[in-house]
Amino acid sequence: MARLDPHSYADSEQAQTERIELALRVDFAARTLSGECALHFRAPGAGPLDLDTRGLRIDSVTDLIETPIRYELQKPEAVLGARLRVELPPGTRGIRVRYSTSPEATALQWLSPAQTAGGVHPFLFSQCQPIHARSLAPLQDTPRVRITARARFTVPEQLRTLMAAASLGREPAGPGEAVDAFEMPQAIPPYLLAFAVGDLTPRQLSVRSAVWAERSVADAAAWEFERIEEILIAAEELFGPYDWDRFDVLVMPPSFPYGGMENPRLTFVTPSLLAGDRSLVNVLAHELAHAWTGNLVTNASANDFWLNEGFTVYAERRILEALEGRGSSELHAAIGRHDLDVALRRFTQRPQLTKLRNDLAGVDPDDAFSTVPYEKGYLLLRKLEETAGRARWDSFLARYLSKFRFQSIATQDFLDLLEAELPGLAAQARVLDWIDQPGLPADAPRPQSPRLRELQRLAAAAEEPRGALPPTELLVYLQALPVLTPAQCAALDRRFELSSRQSLELRQTFVLAQLRAGAPDAVPAARRVLAETGRMKFLRPLFGELAKRGLPLAREIYEERRDGYHPIARAAIEAILRGA
Ligand code: BES
Ligand code: ZN
Repeated sequence: MARLDPHSYADSEQAQTERIELALRVDFAARTLSGECALHFRAPGAGPLDLDTRGLRIDSVTDLIETPIRYELQKPEAVLGARLRVELPPGTRGIRVRYSTSPEATALQWLSPAQTAGGVHPFLFSQCQPIHARSLAPLQDTPRVRITARARFTVPEQLRTLMAAASLGREPAGPGEAVDAFEMPQAIPPYLLAFAVGDLTPRQLSVRSAVWAERSVADAAAWEFERIEEILIAAEELFGPYDWDRFDVLVMPPSFPYGGMENPRLTFVTPSLLAGDRSLVNVLAHELAHAWTGNLVTNASANDFWLNEGFTVYAERRILEALEGRGSSELHAAIGRHDLDVALRRFTQRPQLTKLRNDLAGVDPDDAFSTVPYEKGYLLLRKLEETAGRARWDSFLARYLSKFRFQSIATQDFLDLLEAELPGLAAQARVLDWIDQPGLPADAPRPQSPRLRELQRLAAAAEEPRGALPPTELLVYLQALPVLTPAQCAALDRRFELSSRQSLELRQTFVLAQLRAGAPDAVPAARRVLAETGRMKFLRPLFGELAKRGLPLAREIYEERRDGYHPIARAAIEAILRGA
C-alpha cells in the first residue's frame, strides 16, 4: 500500500491508468454530464483499484468487454471525496464506468444565458486544478498518474465544445444534437483535463494560435492578444521548442475564477484581461510558460505546488524581460513582491503555509492557495540565478526541463538535480531555508530599476507623478501609496480617472484604497467591481476589506452576487465571511 499523494486515493501498487476515454452527454437542463468513462491500464491489473470521485452517481462498472465487476462507492471524506474501490479480476486491462455527475460538481460551472456576454445561449466550463477532476469522472486524480485522453461530448447543435486537446471534428447525433470529439495524445496530469461548451467563435492570430470567445467579445480579444506569436517565439528562444502543437486561448465568461488556466493547447483566461491596452499580456506569458513548467515538468502533488507556479512566474518574467526589457519585468516583480507581503501578513496565524515545501495532508489545497508559492518561489529561483550567474543557471534550467519532461516530480527531485548539476549552489544560497522555513529570508532579492525607485519615492510621499503613467507603472504607484484621505482619493481619481478604468487591476486596487480611506463612494465602487468579475484575485481582497468594515454589509453584497460566482469562489468567500 502506498498512497503517495495526500489528496488522492490512488495507490502506486495498484493498476495505473494510461489512457482515459470519455463519452458524455451534456445536459443543460439537468446540469449533469452522463455517460461513460473507460480507463485503460498501463499493464493488466488485479485486485483492488482505488479511484477518486466526488459527487458522482455510479451506475455500473465493467471490464472493457462489459463483464460486470464488483465495486463499492465508499462514504465521502471532506477533502478527498468518495473512494470508488473496484475489485479487478486477474488480467484486467481496463474498466468502463457508467455514471453521471452532480449538478454541484466542483469542477463545473453551468451558466444561464443571462450570465454570458451574448445572453442567448447557456455556457458550461470545467476547472479541474487542483483536485476537481474527480467530480467530472472517476479516475486516479493525482498528477503522479499521467494520462492520454479521448473524449466525445454530445451537445445541443447550436453550441460547440472546445477541449484542451486536438479536435477530431464534429458529427451529427440525435435530433438537435451533435457530437464533438477530441484526442490528447500527450500524457497529462488529470488536473489539465478541460473543456467548455458555448456559443464560441474563433479569430486567427497566427499559424498556431487562435483566440476563441463569445461573438460579442471576439474582436476585442483578438486585438488584445495580437502579439501572441511574439510571446511564443520569445518563450521558445528561452525554453526550447513548444511541444503542444497549438497555443489557443479561450476567453471565458466573467465568472471564471482565475486570471488564466494553462490547459494544454487551449489556455483559459478571464475576460478581465481585455483591458483595452494590451497591458496584461504577462498573464498570457505566464500561462504559456506553464507549457514547460507545469505541463511538461509537473508538481507531484499540492505539497510541491511551488514547482509549478514559482518556476512559471520566473519563466513569465524572463519572457517579459526578453519582450519588453528589464525595466518592465522589474515592475512586475515589484507588484509580485507587494502581493507576497500581503499574503505573508495574511498567514501570520498559519506560518507553515508560507513554506515552499508543504505537508497538506487533511488540508484542502484550495484553502492553502496563496501567492506565496508564486512569488516566494520566484524569488528563490532568482536568488539561485543571481548566485550562480545567468549562464550557468540557464544551462541548469535546460537540463531540468529535458530531464523531467513528461514527469511529475517532488521538491526533492529538483534539489537532487540542482546538487548534481551545480554542486554547492544550494548551500551557498541557503535553499533549504527558503524551502522548509516559513516567511522570507532576509537576503531575498529586491526588484529594482530607476523607474521603480522613482515611483516608490513619489508614492511614499503621496506626491503625484508628472505626465501620463502607463498602466503597469500606475499599478506600482497605487500599491505603494500609504493609507489616503477621502480627499486624496478624489484627487487621485480626477488625475488618473481610476473609477472609470476598464482595467480591473487598476480599478480594484483603487477601490481597496478608497475602502481603506473610508471614502464615501467606496462601497458602491466595490459593488460595481464585484458585479463585473468572479476572478478570485479581485474578490478575495475586496470581500476581506468589506468584512473589516462590517460583516452584514459584506454578507449582503455576497448574497446579491452569489449566483454568478463559481463554486470555488463561493467557498473562498464564505471562508472569509466566516472569519477564517
Ligand atoms: N494554474 C494557475 C491557476 C490555478 C492555480 C488554478 C491553482 C487552480 C489552482 C494559473 O496558471 C495561474 O497561476 N493563474 C494566475 C495568473 C497570474 C499569476 C499571472 C491567476 O489566475 O491570477
Ligand atoms: Zn500559474
